[in-house]
Amino acid sequence: MVGDLLIKNATLVLPSQVVEGDLRVSSGSISSIARGGGLEPNIDEPVIDATGLHLLPGIIDPHVHFREPGHIENEDLESGSRAAAAGGVTSFLDMPNNSPNTTNRTTIERKISLASKKSVTHHGFFIGATKNNVLDLQSVEGMDGVCGIKVFMGSSTGDLLVHEQENLEEIFANTGGIIATHAEDEERLQQRKTEFNHRTDIASHAECRDVECAFLATKRAAALAKDHDHRLHIVHLTSGKEADWIQKNKADLITTEVCTQHLTFDQDDVERLGERLLMNPPIRYTEDRDALWRGLRNGAIDCIVTDHAPHSLEAKSAGFPDSPAGMPGVETSLPLMLTHAMNGKCSLTEVVRWMCEGPARVYGIRDKGALIDGHDGDLTLVDLENRRTITDSDTWTKVGWTPYAGMELTGWPMYTIVDGEVVHKREAGGSLRGTAVAKSGSSGRLLKFE
Ligand code: DOR
Ligand code: ZN
Repeated sequence: MVGDLLIKNATLVLPSQVVEGDLRVSSGSISSIARGGGLEPNIDEPVIDATGLHLLPGIIDPHVHFREPGHIENEDLESGSRAAAAGGVTSFLDMPNNSPNTTNRTTIERKISLASKKSVTHHGFFIGATKNNVLDLQSVEGMDGVCGIKVFMGSSTGDLLVHEQENLEEIFANTGGIIATHAEDEERLQQRKTEFNHRTDIASHAECRDVECAFLATKRAAALAKDHDHRLHIVHLTSGKEADWIQKNKADLITTEVCTQHLTFDQDDVERLGERLLMNPPIRYTEDRDALWRGLRNGAIDCIVTDHAPHSLEAKSAGFPDSPAGMPGVETSLPLMLTHAMNGKCSLTEVVRWMCEGPARVYGIRDKGALIDGHDGDLTLVDLENRRTITDSDTWTKVGWTPYAGMELTGWPMYTIVDGEVVHKREAGGSLRGTAVAKSGSSGRLLKFE
């Protein structure tokens, strides 16, 4: 569905300006932006009075794990997309470590078909690389809805893994589009796992899967991209060493991302919150967190993502080292980053650059990522005035918890809008969860990638 909508009296976060004004969406696309306001409603046109609210482009989260098919008790394409909508996210790109893994045309088509019935936001999917599926990778090249090839160079949740040079060369040599790598060095990882197997303290996670693990694989992926003239996106940078190296060695071929949690937490939070913060690659040290912020500011890092990876609290309660790695985050990324902005870590314009324009540019998603005439009417109206403390019970993810529980965040989306249709709403002073407005499958489209 596409809609008409007039938003009046908003503070518009435009690409290079933050101004008061009105914005109109006609048949799903932005048709007019009036700095200073003055747009009058057409007959029957829905109107939102956005006095006191900031209008941003809808967030694009290009790194989520929505668990369908395989573990829909933890998330499915409906619950994940509703969580996204609750957080102002209007487009998501979903990872292939499912059960079965999404590694061929049939499994990709199945996800696309499920999403068309269940998702309330725009959606795209990665195909996963294995040691021997180059033909499958080729079979979905250029297909609508397929954003790229995910290569797990180090093992993580699930069994997708390609780490031998010969197999990596084959993939880089014989495919097109974007390769997105989970860059941790498998050989070093396995060797260190043996060395660390007597340690059960959670601090040993970051010591074992150390910066060198990540750095080795990041350099290796960059070399493969250059040798084969292949577009490469390195997912979740976690260390200052990687960010500094990328800044010096980044060619046009290479883009990178950072997770909200790596910008927010450090070793002390891991100690305090335990398994909830367990993920791969790990939350590291204060100096890494600070370096990742520098990486965003100096352009080494192109976008901010969540790596939304829901595991149940019951599974997490197994305790380190048996707890699964990963945490939910798709519904909290925008309030979290806006809270960082209000605390002086960055500007609103930077939040939009890193969470909207950046992902659109990295993946070649046309007409999204900025408030520009003619762009799609994917929007979020946020309230920067009210700080509210989030608890586990405020979440939409099926696993029902958030690593940010107990934190006071501002910038909650009061309206999330997809193609001009409101899909999620909150009332001032109402529940923090708000209300899901869209029927499953009624809004959001399959994304196309240039
Ligand atoms: O911590 C993680 N969890 N890292 C990954 O690479 C995968 C993810 C998951 O799917 O649970
Ligand atoms: Zn991931």
